[in-house]
Amino acid sequence: MEDNKVDEADEEEYCPTELHQYQFGIFSMWMFIHLLLLQTSSCAGDSGVVNPCCYYPCQNSGVCVRFGTDGYQCDCTRTGFNGENCTDPEFWTRLRLLLKPSPPVVHSFLTNFHWFWNIVNNSFLRDIIMRLVLTVRSDLIPSPPTYNTKYGYLSWESYYNISYYTRLLPPVPKDCPLPMGTKGKSVLPDPKLLAERFFRRKTFRPDPQGTNLMFAFMAQHFTHQFFRTNHDVPGGFTKALGHGVDASNIYGDNLMRQLQLRLQKDGKLKYQLVKGETYPPTVSEVPVHMVYPKDFPPEQRLAIGQEVFGILPGLTMYATIWLREHNRVCDIMKAEHPTWDDEQLFQTSRLIIIGEIINIIIEEYVQQLSGYLLKMKFDPTLLFNARFQYSNRIALEFCQLYHWHPLMPDSFMVDGDEIPYSQFLYNTSLLMHYGVEKLVDAFSRQPAGQIGGGLNSHEAVLKVAEMVVRESRAARVRPFNEYRKKFNLKPYTSFYDLTGNTEMARDLEELYGDIDALELYIGVLLEKTRADGIFGESMVEMGAPFSLKGLMGNPICSPEYWKPSTFGGETGFNIVKKATLKKLVCLNTKWCPYVDFHVPRNEEEAKPKTPSTEL
Ligand code: HEM
Ligand SMILES: *[C@@H]1O[C@H](CO)[C@@H](O)[C@H](O)[C@H]1NC(C)=O
Ligand SMILES: *[C@@H]1O[C@H](CO)[C@@H](O)[C@H](O)[C@H]1NC(C)=O
Ligand SMILES: *[C@@H]1O[C@H](CO)[C@@H](O)[C@H](O)[C@H]1NC(C)=O
Ligand SMILES: *[C@@H]1O[C@H](CO)[C@@H](O)[C@H](O)[C@H]1NC(C)=O
Repeated sequence: MEDNKVDEADEEEYCPTELHQYQFGIFSMWMFIHLLLLQTSSCAGDSGVVNPCCYYPCQNSGVCVRFGTDGYQCDCTRTGFNGENCTDPEFWTRLRLLLKPSPPVVHSFLTNFHWFWNIVNNSFLRDIIMRLVLTVRSDLIPSPPTYNTKYGYLSWESYYNISYYTRLLPPVPKDCPLPMGTKGKSVLPDPKLLAERFFRRKTFRPDPQGTNLMFAFMAQHFTHQFFRTNHDVPGGFTKALGHGVDASNIYGDNLMRQLQLRLQKDGKLKYQLVKGETYPPTVSEVPVHMVYPKDFPPEQRLAIGQEVFGILPGLTMYATIWLREHNRVCDIMKAEHPTWDDEQLFQTSRLIIIGEIINIIIEEYVQQLSGYLLKMKFDPTLLFNARFQYSNRIALEFCQLYHWHPLMPDSFMVDGDEIPYSQFLYNTSLLMHYGVEKLVDAFSRQPAGQIGGGLNSHEAVLKVAEMVVRESRAARVRPFNEYRKKFNLKPYTSFYDLTGNTEMARDLEELYGDIDALELYIGVLLEKTRADGIFGESMVEMGAPFSLKGLMGNPICSPEYWKPSTFGGETGFNIVKKATLKKLVCLNTKWCPYVDFHVPRNEEEAKPKTPSTEL
């Protein structure tokens, strides 16, 4: 129903200027509940009973279960550890730990020794190491999923009700004496203060890995198919029920929206032609709900699968590219299968698009992000002999740590023009004024900001950092150090250990009181960055498992699906297997701009404008 209305007063949570009041409502509600809890817990304190699980006693992924009033037991089953708190390694665990290289060692191995990777990249070793990367990473993600914001123990409801984000760690128990358990201060720092002191940009710090805006907008476009937090109700709910790469950002996340966006002919999506070029249709032609400022005329609203994508030309640009690609693939399918009806052409093309997305994300996007010298490979057959579940559930923690707003620059440079945020946000005409080619070229040449290390969030996105922190508290996300342990990383022992920066460490110490009470998002973003890295160790070690599990857990990667017939034959299968960002753009444009996920690294790359025919 919702999708039908062309609402004039519907800017919702996404319009940055309107956010504050709304979030403040949640915040005051949260404060109120929090105060109530403080009341009850101080009563509990009087009787001397603290929930022992608030001390997070169980190590190595042991499960804490409360017995009686002040007793607990750790369930250490299959953790490889024994003892009261699952701290005594079994023989084989001891051996494994002895042999296992630490994350910094693995990382420096993967980013050094060119001669070695030169051999690996071009031999059977590439497959072996890629398989190892995929299995080691995705083994850290429980599948089937476990907890959610309501259930800190296993339950059928938690498994079955996919409106929840799942969680890797249960929430902080409600009856703990302190907001983060038993450590730190009784009141957590003001989110606004955190944003001002640790996030606000002083001067733009480009990502040392050379990541560009083409990457930044891909990050946002790609992740917003599975990160769609439902802000209408508290409790860690999502509106994206696909829980992974379903291309709902292109096709809509329900059948009604999809049918409205579809041309209902030849499998294609509806479009409009401007100066002979294909763009998404407007809301006046396709009346789906899109979030725009009040009084924004329907004939200027673009109709896109994801309702918030009107906010940025970078997102409408990607929407345009994927729309053209879908319709291009439909033409190819139709030529090979003239008997197929609209439905089969649409469905098959959608699977091809999903395959292209996963391929480009693994082989180019993750490649850029990781900085690894290993050449990433998208090949589902690598996992066919591994123990691997083809399913996925998006985790709240994944959503939290993916708030990469420091990527955003101070302003946008397009075709010699400098465009401030005020003229960039919700500007529909910009896309058609410059066209896809010039925007791709511009975004591919402009550096994005370094994500980690703090003090790099532009004013326009500073509020978002506050909101992440508020959401994390409402959802009672466990301390950063508990997540370090969950991902087999050593917990930090001091704020200086974390940041490597005296001033920042002092301020954090003053606000949090205890490193074990530091919040997840703050820890992940303020951690010292790796040498010439876009962020620190924790973002990689925590983000990569969620990411790779989500990408490879897709049904198209399963043995039953991964075959030519799924994609309409060898032609479609090859489109998936050979997809690249450059082809995605240049098979759908008049001329081929500089297109990549990093800024030009040499003169050759910087050379502009080859005709698309050279592809
Ligand atoms: C000018 C650019 C941007 C603006 C104005 C903006 C604004 C916002 C706002 C207002 C929210 C809602 C706050 C919340 O849910 O906590 C949000 C959420 C989010 N943003 Fe951005 N953002 C921008 C760019 C980006 C980029 C480049 C990324 C890259 C990954 C990104 C990732 C996210 C994620 C993952 C969420 C959570 C979505 C959800 O839970 O539904 N954003 N953004
Ligand atoms: C287990 O953890 C609890 C709480 O942190 C602690 O008091 C206890 O001494 C630990 N037991 C052992 C055997 O280390
Ligand atoms: C999931 O849980 C929420 C909150 O309890 C409830 O409102 C919703 O109806 C549930 N969804 C399903 C599909 O059962
Ligand atoms: C291996 O391939 C990747 C991806 O193409 C590349 O970035 C890296 O430089 C290559 N490594 C070596 C040593 O050539
Ligand atoms: C949209 O962008 C164009 C080109 O930069 C600019 O001239 C125009 O004023 C912008 N529109 C709005 C509403 O900011």
